Amino acid sequence: MAHLQTVLGIDLGTQSLKVVFYDFAARRIAASASAPLDVRRDERGTAEQEADWWLAALSAALDKVPENVRASARAVGVSGQQHGFVAVGEDGDVLVPVKLWCDTSTQAEADEIMDAAGGRERCIEIAGNPVMVGYTASKILWFRKQDPERYRRMAHVMLPHDYLNFVLTGEVAMEFGDASGTGLLDVRARRWSPDMLRAVDPDGDLASRLPRLVEPDTVVGTVTDECSRRFGIPAGIPVAPGGGDNMMAAIGTGNVTPGKLTMSLGTSGTLFAYADAPVIDEGGNIAAFCSSTGGWLPLLCTMNCTFATELMRAPLDVSTADFDATIGGVPAGAEGLIVLPFFSGERTPNLPSASASIHGLRAHNCKTGHLLRATVEGATFGMRFGLDELQRLGLDAAEIVLTGGGSNSAAWCQIVADVCDLPVTLLEQDEGASFGAALQALWIHERASGADTTLAAITERHLSPRPAACRTPDPATAGRYTDIYADYRRAVDDVASRFQT
Ligand code: XUL
Repeated sequence: MAHLQTVLGIDLGTQSLKVVFYDFAARRIAASASAPLDVRRDERGTAEQEADWWLAALSAALDKVPENVRASARAVGVSGQQHGFVAVGEDGDVLVPVKLWCDTSTQAEADEIMDAAGGRERCIEIAGNPVMVGYTASKILWFRKQDPERYRRMAHVMLPHDYLNFVLTGEVAMEFGDASGTGLLDVRARRWSPDMLRAVDPDGDLASRLPRLVEPDTVVGTVTDECSRRFGIPAGIPVAPGGGDNMMAAIGTGNVTPGKLTMSLGTSGTLFAYADAPVIDEGGNIAAFCSSTGGWLPLLCTMNCTFATELMRAPLDVSTADFDATIGGVPAGAEGLIVLPFFSGERTPNLPSASASIHGLRAHNCKTGHLLRATVEGATFGMRFGLDELQRLGLDAAEIVLTGGGSNSAAWCQIVADVCDLPVTLLEQDEGASFGAALQALWIHERASGADTTLAAITERHLSPRPAACRTPDPATAGRYTDIYADYRRAVDDVASRFQT
């Protein structure tokens, strides 16, 4: 029997860390496992994790994988939640708890940076992006103001997936996709923006503490002996640059050439398209990110997707098994109920200090199914806004590829198809970001073996649709959603003035 050979994809998410070992010859997942992660939150919008928790979760997930499968790994790719700020000292020690993408406590710093750089429009002009709530730049300024002594000791600014790469290899690097989520990268020129760096730290040497920027097919380093002992994966195997979870989900859904749309129904909700040239949204609703494949990845992000539906599911006491039947038993629009699911504040629409709200609650719709369906619809309407914005920027597609935890719900997939009035495709390989990380690892593995493979050829070869799960819009329901979506937008406008900073 041929020797098992796999590539390992790791996805450091917000709620869990997942590992996938992909047997690329047999085109099947040899093993996958995950370990949960906690988030420390408070009423000021803080959302933090300790970097140590990630390493413990990586060990715990890998411990669940049989030893022979772990030993079969030939290359590693790491995906991670975007925007988190890992401040690392000279000795590799993490200096403060990691503020995550969903931490809204540094909004004042985001505003301060934009003011220092000449305003929101000027930031878009010079770097391609405003400094939105949650972007890394605001957390760096927050750290500089809160704790100048430790800030001086910071040798490296890393993003969550860079930190795992660093632990695995001892190397410090950042690739363009995740780097664009710092708010410090000039995404048109693909270099750090001196103006943005000055806006965060006028007298400091922030540039020297930012990692070298690497191309997507670079081998960042190889797994060290110490990590091999610690995690039970082979020493010396190459580690790909990895990327932000959305960038890796783009690979994992084959979104590496123009003309495709991916929607990820995860803790956050995202909708994105690959582009060959920078796509800058002057209004700033669509993030002008780079991809982790050498191009760009214009992206809509809402902070409350499965985060909202899971929060609502708990007090309503609906099990995951009953989720579909519960929301499927209620008509589109939940008989007049609208939920604005801004539980953790929101980035798009730009309402960082918002809270969630329920509109149109009456005796006839004050029911479990209605409340849950309206939450799912609210989360989906946020993405519909992104679809309109992407289309306005010229990014269109004939279908949406769905990934993320929410796509396990057939009823939700149908809601996406109806709200967006587009067919939705689900893939056989529904591992999203972790699978994308595995495919990026496969790419560098093949290139290291002398093959001149493109990433597009790899996604073509290793991804296939799952026809039975795909959904097409129902014309009557899609028509009804046009009016219901307009009601949702009006409800957003109603609350916006209350929460605008
Ligand atoms: C994207 C974003 C989220 C996180 C979730 O800008 O903030 O999708 O990457 O992990």
